[in-house]
Amino acid sequence: MTARSSLTVVLAAGEGTRMRSSLPKVLHPVAGQPLLAHVLQAAPAGAGARLAVVIGPDHKAVADEVHRLRPAAETFVQRERLGTAHAVLAARAAIARSADDLLVVFGDTPLISAETFARMRAPLAQGAALTVLGFHAADPTGYGRLLMDGNRLVAIREHADASADERKITLCNAGVMAFDGRVAPKILDQIGNANSKGEYYLVDAVAIVRKMGLEAVVIETKEDEVRGINTKAQLAEAEAVMQARLRKAAMDAGVTLIAPETVYLAADTTFGKDVTIEPFVVIGPGVSIADGAVIHSFSHIVQATIGKNASVGPYARLRPGTSLGDGARIGNFVETKAAILEAGVKVNHLSYIGDAEVGANSNIGAGTITCNYDGFSKHKTTIGKGAFVGTNSSLVAPVTIGNGAYIGSGSVITRDVPDDAMAVERSPQSVREGGAVRYREIKTRGKKTKD
Ligand code: UD1
Ligand code: CA
Repeated sequence: MTARSSLTVVLAAGEGTRMRSSLPKVLHPVAGQPLLAHVLQAAPAGAGARLAVVIGPDHKAVADEVHRLRPAAETFVQRERLGTAHAVLAARAAIARSADDLLVVFGDTPLISAETFARMRAPLAQGAALTVLGFHAADPTGYGRLLMDGNRLVAIREHADASADERKITLCNAGVMAFDGRVAPKILDQIGNANSKGEYYLVDAVAIVRKMGLEAVVIETKEDEVRGINTKAQLAEAEAVMQARLRKAAMDAGVTLIAPETVYLAADTTFGKDVTIEPFVVIGPGVSIADGAVIHSFSHIVQATIGKNASVGPYARLRPGTSLGDGARIGNFVETKAAILEAGVKVNHLSYIGDAEVGANSNIGAGTITCNYDGFSKHKTTIGKGAFVGTNSSLVAPVTIGNGAYIGSGSVITRDVPDDAMAVERSPQSVREGGAVRYREIKTRGKKTKD
């Protein structure tokens, strides 16, 4: 049997008024990624899988995010928000190029899994015209109710249009639907707007399918997978569900989380073997942590690569562009940004290392600061291998410290220091002996003098 082709239409045109935010709803993050990104990642991908996203007018940022994640996806603008069926038909041009399966999914349900899409497509291969994803809601208020005749789905009734008896039903419409792609256009074109809100409801597809003498089936899932996000409180609930999943997946993969409920991960965090994460660590997007690394408490890490057996924190902040080599050590109250620290580098206390490269096995003393910003632009600091930077030194970029160089504590380094040289450069006030307005020495260290 050949694999069935698919078109997934993601509805993301909603204004998201209840978020009370200037950011389009589907761009709000859960586990470090926009809601929409989670949905796009779960949607079928690969050969024979097309994707169309329906967005609101003036939502260029949403279109940009779609194209960043799935460059081949098409976007369609729904100019007036006349309901979910109307939104699907904004993608009519994509639907007309028929696929075997047409999936419709909402952009604000980030917890949906790829496996559920696969389960929903299975009945279509068996001849059903429509699969609806259902769940038992703890509180069904607001959801469309699934009206069953025994095992058969006969209709979906929106809450606003439901009778008192129908409102007692807890089996609800999750919003995800899968259509047989060949009959989908005929079904969608029959949906009208004769309901209390005057909207074109996608849910009316069920009754139409029945009227056509075709089969509509329900696939059930857990409420946690289909939580829709309309408010900031629901965003926080989805975050909690997602974090619980990510922690469990990390532990299943062998990561030691001492107090998992206090550790925040991102959806794209990757781990090697035997990684330990102590309590109260926050990991943002774009982080990979290699075998044997330890992240100590109260560290905050975003877009950083952490090498094997490296040690981070406690109280470290690794900002975007940080790369730690194997066995590197970042201690307390150290901040790094756009910094490549090679294997065995130690920055153990109270330092800022930004826009910098530090060669293998260099030791950066307590309180060292790379002065990367002169008030106008950023400059780079390059430190060679095996260098020693004494405590409380300021390295005024752009500046290069050579391999094996030695910087005396309290130095303010404004000029390059050659390989194996010793530099002690202090402001006159800080030098008690002498006191003259000059103090700069660059000596060649004993044995390493070149002949
Ligand atoms: C919808 C379902 C309801 C289901 C619930 C599950 C319909 C009519 N109702 O209700 O049965 O129980 O989801 O969460 O389908 N959208 C557009 N354009 C529009 C209208 C909506 O793009 O004109 C998008 C929204 O951005 C959102 C999705 O469609 O992503 C669902 O719309 P929403 O208004 O949230 O539907 P619900 O009232 O939650
Ligand atoms: Ca909704």
